[in-house]
Amino acid sequence: MKGVLLAGGTGSRLRPITHTGPKQLLPVANKPVLEYAVEDLKDAGITDIGVVLGHKGREAIQELLGDGSEYGVDITYIVQGNPLGLAHAAGCARDFVGDDDFVMYLGDNILNEGITDLVESFETGDYGAGIALQEVDNPQQFGIADVDDAGNVTELIEKPDHPPTNLALIGMYVFSSDVFDAIERLEPSWRGELEITDAIQLLLDDGHEIDSHVVTGWWKDTGKPEDILEANRLVLEDTTLERNGTVEEGAETNGRIGLAESAVIEDGAVVRGPVSIAEDTTIKSGTYVGPYTSIGANSTLEGIHIENSVVIGDSSLTASGRIVDSLLGRSASVESADELLPEGRRLVVGENSQLKL
Ligand code: TTP
Repeated sequence: MKGVLLAGGTGSRLRPITHTGPKQLLPVANKPVLEYAVEDLKDAGITDIGVVLGHKGREAIQELLGDGSEYGVDITYIVQGNPLGLAHAAGCARDFVGDDDFVMYLGDNILNEGITDLVESFETGDYGAGIALQEVDNPQQFGIADVDDAGNVTELIEKPDHPPTNLALIGMYVFSSDVFDAIERLEPSWRGELEITDAIQLLLDDGHEIDSHVVTGWWKDTGKPEDILEANRLVLEDTTLERNGTVEEGAETNGRIGLAESAVIEDGAVVRGPVSIAEDTTIKSGTYVGPYTSIGANSTLEGIHIENSVVIGDSSLTASGRIVDSLLGRSASVESADELLPEGRRLVVGENSQLKL
């Protein structure tokens, strides 16, 4: 079994953050989203991984993952270029995959329970594909699968008016190499992309059995700013956070706090977990860092009140205002202006942005 990790795409819903970097490298609890995927593949015993790259951020992705040895995997890079759809991206991996089966993992997705069960379920039969499903409240807005009692997929329907089930396809698939012939026969959809659901439908039409696995733990597609914040909340809630840095006497801390070795919470600062604070970051006196916040490396916070937010890093936040539910791009700086403004702003700030509050 091989892994194909999709790290191309446009990331338009995360602009301006994605103007300067790929969305798969956005940090959740101070770890790039893509690393969670590599770890899930490895945990499922998949160490031969092809990473599909688009135009954006190729170098940055290769710099992070390298040849995979740091993660205990072997990485091959595959260039897709223009994002012509998930099935097109999979098709680009044909030479890499050969006759093997493979997991296709969307590089901007985070899955709480990993992919081991999905892979094991696929391996119990002679399936053309295996798909991960999750129960949703609003099936009209998803690609929905109908399944029989054995969990075999009988039909796939895109955004049905009268959904036969509430089982939505999430971005996690296992394929046999038969999918490549199906992809060759695909026509672009109304949105001009080669759709992976159409490829799975072709496999069904060709008489292949399609397995399904219902995911019960949380799953997050981090396509939009609010998704990054939610993924950050979910991961901070679940992971072990280690306090390796310095908490000065007189600092008020409670709850679980991940503090990198070179990070400091100074006398007079208040930090309430779950919070993650990365390397070389200082939380100065008069600052409040509230629950579900991740502060990236090399940042300084002074006098600000911030909660439920993600600060990517290299930032200086020295305003006296309140920042909530916000995603701040790399090198963002937030400093005080003279006049008083209303409290509790929501921000999505691109790389190198400057805000005066
Ligand atoms: P999407 O979030 O569906 O697409 P996108 O990245 O173009 O985002 P947006 O709609 O905001 O512009 O992609 C899911 C994952 O698959 C993501 O990690 C990017 C990757 N992908 C590719 O590698 N190639 C592609 O052709 C497409 C469409 C996506």
